[in-house]
Amino acid sequence: MNHFQYKAEELYCEDVPVRRIAQEVGTPCYVYSLATLKHHFLTFDSAFAHADHLTCYSVKANSNIAILKLFGSMGGGVDIVSGGELFRALKAQIPSNRIVYSGVGKTVEEIDFALREKILMFNIESTQELEQINRRAEALNTKASVSLRVNPDIDPNTHPYISTGMKKNKFGISTDSALRAFEDAKNLKHIDLVGLDCHIGSQLTEITPFVDALKRLRALIERFRLRGAQIRYLDLGGGLGIVYDQESPPQPHEYARALLQELGDINCTLIFEPGRVIVGNAGIFVTKVLYTKRTPAKNFVISDGAMNDLIRPSLYGSYHAVQPVVRNLKEAEIVDVVGPICESGDFLARDRSLPMSSQGDYLAVMSAGAYGFSMSSNYNTRPRVAEVLVNGAHYSVIRRRETWEDLVRLETVPDFIEEGGK
Ligand code: LLP
Repeated sequence: MNHFQYKAEELYCEDVPVRRIAQEVGTPCYVYSLATLKHHFLTFDSAFAHADHLTCYSVKANSNIAILKLFGSMGGGVDIVSGGELFRALKAQIPSNRIVYSGVGKTVEEIDFALREKILMFNIESTQELEQINRRAEALNTKASVSLRVNPDIDPNTHPYISTGMKKNKFGISTDSALRAFEDAKNLKHIDLVGLDCHIGSQLTEITPFVDALKRLRALIERFRLRGAQIRYLDLGGGLGIVYDQESPPQPHEYARALLQELGDINCTLIFEPGRVIVGNAGIFVTKVLYTKRTPAKNFVISDGAMNDLIRPSLYGSYHAVQPVVRNLKEAEIVDVVGPICESGDFLARDRSLPMSSQGDYLAVMSAGAYGFSMSSNYNTRPRVAEVLVNGAHYSVIRRRETWEDLVRLETVPDFIEEGGK
């Protein structure tokens, strides 16, 4: 369910015509619906209402501080993967005891930052990392709460770039090595091993891989406990898929039912790290048609939005529906929607049937709330676009469009260039 609907022939976000935002804020821009964000967070979180749990929204999906603050105010925590994400989470006043930190390559600076802020736990992915965190906790005269991220070797049946829980992936510790890591952790004075964790991939559209992973983790928890471990947290990561096109992913309540059934009486606080399922369909990317070009091979709609703004189609071949912001009655044609960037990989949609577009028309690229803005870049020295949050009949710009001046602000020309290389 989302709040992007046509009223008559106009696309609205809640009670605001998308065209109005495009005209007032300019294009390209991302537009998010507050009601959809809230609805998705609540739907996920309340699916686990009867279990002791914490929903740690995965910041990487959409890291705007306004959005983090919203989920924090709804009782959520966050899953972070960098010092920068920790910085954002703290700016959004997420309580540090609701922050979990994942990722294979945490630096000393990042570890120290997280230790000082006393986050809930580090999800550790290697024995070297475990030792590093122990050393840093000793240096800071504290103890680190950690959970072991287990790689359960399960195929999540998703795009290879976003599957993370198979033997060949860089993530986590194999189930075989986990017991050894546990023994190591026991001997480390500044480590408190409090949990187990896994995240097997993203955009999963079936329940079975989640349940299979859980079975493996449950068996490990039992073995750990037999050896005297106090496992208090079980973090099952994120990964629940959404509808982009024809997929039929499980609904959060189905996902919850299957997991809770499998968990039985595990006596752990459950942690989830959903990203896409909460924000994906709560946002669209709005772009304007600059030109249309018909060639014998293809019809191109050249939009002001490009791969630097929304890279998913170029990077993963992902499908995002494209819809006119104002419907017309023109005949449909098959087009590629492409951007101004100097690469043939710069497309938002390929071979799509769209009502014939004209210069100045606005197009909405749907399901763009997750991994849209957060993966955008300045390639071709294009300013990153504005982000807008709609609340009923009002909207706010929650990140202004970058200016050209913003893009060069951090650069300096050294004297030896100024002096003409003399
Ligand atoms: N937890 C961990 C440890 C993760 O690595 C991820 C995503 C999540 C949670 C959240 O997963 P979600 O619920 O959003 O599926 N850029 C790609 C997706 C990359 C996902 C990376 N990790 C895309 O645009 O499809």
